[in-house]
Amino acid sequence: MTITRHVAVTGGGGFIGSHLCRALLDRGDRVTAIDNFCTGHEANIDPILDESQFRLQLGDICDPDTFAGITDITDIVHLACPASPKANAAMPIDTIRAATVGTLNVLELAHHVGARCVVASSSEVYGDPLVHPQAEDYRGNCDPVGAHSAYTEGKRVAEAAAAAYQRIGANVGIVRPFNVYGPNMWPDDGRVIAAFCSAALRGETLRLEGGGTQTRSLVWVGDFIAGLIAMLDSEEAGPINLGSTDEITIADLAQLVIDRAGSGSVQIAPGRDEVVAVRRPDITRAHTLLGWQPHTCLADGLTITVQWMRAVLQP
Ligand SMILES: NC(=O)c1ccc[n+]([C@@H]2O[C@H](COP(=O)([O-])OP(=O)(O)OC[C@H]3O[C@@H](n4cnc5c(N)ncnc54)[C@H](O)[C@@H]3O)[C@@H](O)[C@H]2O)c1
Repeated sequence: MTITRHVAVTGGGGFIGSHLCRALLDRGDRVTAIDNFCTGHEANIDPILDESQFRLQLGDICDPDTFAGITDITDIVHLACPASPKANAAMPIDTIRAATVGTLNVLELAHHVGARCVVASSSEVYGDPLVHPQAEDYRGNCDPVGAHSAYTEGKRVAEAAAAAYQRIGANVGIVRPFNVYGPNMWPDDGRVIAAFCSAALRGETLRLEGGGTQTRSLVWVGDFIAGLIAMLDSEEAGPINLGSTDEITIADLAQLVIDRAGSGSVQIAPGRDEVVAVRRPDITRAHTLLGWQPHTCLADGLTITVQWMRAVLQP
């Protein structure tokens, strides 16, 4: 007899969460998305709202009452947290509360009901790394009071909380996503792909903050979701990096976007505080323990993302 899984997805109305809900429904799981839509978009889950196996629980994960009545779950994927630097800057208190108080509430629920729980940390726990590429045993170079510390230190506390629950016997896994991109990253998101795609399609200037020589490694959302589900289906504790090993400068990325949009121009702009110089994961652990690696090249993923953004921006 097959046991139907019932997965709670915190942040299910967000970018990654909406793709995850879709993928879990497609394989026959029941899904409860929990979201307060502080950064999510209801349009992300419009296509699944009426599916019989899907339920939306509106609420804040920092409020334990949000989880009242959610008792029959087998799994949790914990994604709820304002994730873009723009959102983190606008909502520093919401950010650190979601990453700390919210994560503790989610872990307590998982432990109480005996559910497998995967916690989304971030590559930001490596800070401005002194080691390149970044493997999971690198402890990072972070500033606890820096401009982005509500997020970076919040995620480090989230990992510490997950490790504490592991120590008391909870089935918890930690993943560290590295720059995921794809449809459902809205024009106002603030992260580099959304900012570049929306600016290029509007024929505007793509600002290369920090000079454009800094690098990022961008992973297609479909590949990332496969890794996240592999982690959910395992009993691995992590932390496990999930990202692409293809590294690109921000200047080259801007050009790829402009080529696909057919418009836009670039301008070097002064750096924001704490521009991270390099970012590339070592994914040996994900490959060895989960059999995971990304397959979609940036050129193909960007083509789809620009197409999606073009449709969104059409009047
Ligand atoms: N997208 C990436 O490249 C990336 C990289 C590293 C880490 N992550 C992590 O993955 C997770 C998902 O990121 P995303 O890109 O989908 O971000 P997102 O902002 O699109 O989604 C986050 C979702 O969580 C919800 N949320 C935030 N605080 C909440 C709260 N207190 N209660 C209930 N819901 C709340 C938001 O409304 C939103 O729908 C985040 O934890 C983020 O830190 C993402």
